[in-house]
Amino acid sequence: MKLFVDTGNVKEVEALAAIGILDGVTTNPTLLAKEGGDYRRILARICETVKGPVSAEVVATDAAGMIREGRDLATLDPHIVVKVPFTRDGVEACRMLASEGARVNVTLIFSAPQAWLAAKAGAAYVSPFVGRLDDIGTTGMNLVREIVDIFDNFEYLTEVLVASVRNPIHIVEAARMGADVVTAPAAVIDQCFKHPLTDIGLERFLKDWEKAQAARV
Ligand code: E4P
Repeated sequence: MKLFVDTGNVKEVEALAAIGILDGVTTNPTLLAKEGGDYRRILARICETVKGPVSAEVVATDAAGMIREGRDLATLDPHIVVKVPFTRDGVEACRMLASEGARVNVTLIFSAPQAWLAAKAGAAYVSPFVGRLDDIGTTGMNLVREIVDIFDNFEYLTEVLVASVRNPIHIVEAARMGADVVTAPAAVIDQCFKHPLTDIGLERFLKDWEKAQAARV
């Protein structure tokens, strides 16, 4: 399963890319607005750093506007994946942009039929938002299972990109279900590194080693 970081922050991307575990990045208007500055330069920097798919979202709501913005975003860097919201216009824009060779991530997916329609429109990725479904008292990961099953039945090339991830359990479940990609905030990826028994174990190993070295002199 590929790991993307869900951020508009260049430093967060650099830190994860340096470790060598990062496959791509997803941004959205909220995340980029938080950073301030020139969003085009930020996206270009992120592309240069990760050298993998970087989702950049359109803000137009009509198909013609989305197509125009999508074409423009795609000129920023070959790694750009144009992100469009799942609406009728978004699906139309996806079909057009995909037919021109752009990779499209259809976002704000909250149901299996939406994912199916996006796949039919040639989406490279669909992004089910699991955390936001959990927030309204449903089990977001059930949607991922449904989409993975449907895509497997018909061998769609569209990748299932699990989004709106809130904790490491979402990541583990996504991997067990066979999702293609998970995108998580840097803080959640950080949680995956941590286990108190690892820290305690390492401390004990080092102490025992030091003790043995001291006894030799
Ligand atoms: C995905 O592409 C979105 O940017 C993101 O996962 C949304 O997550 P949120 O529900 O935490 O805002």
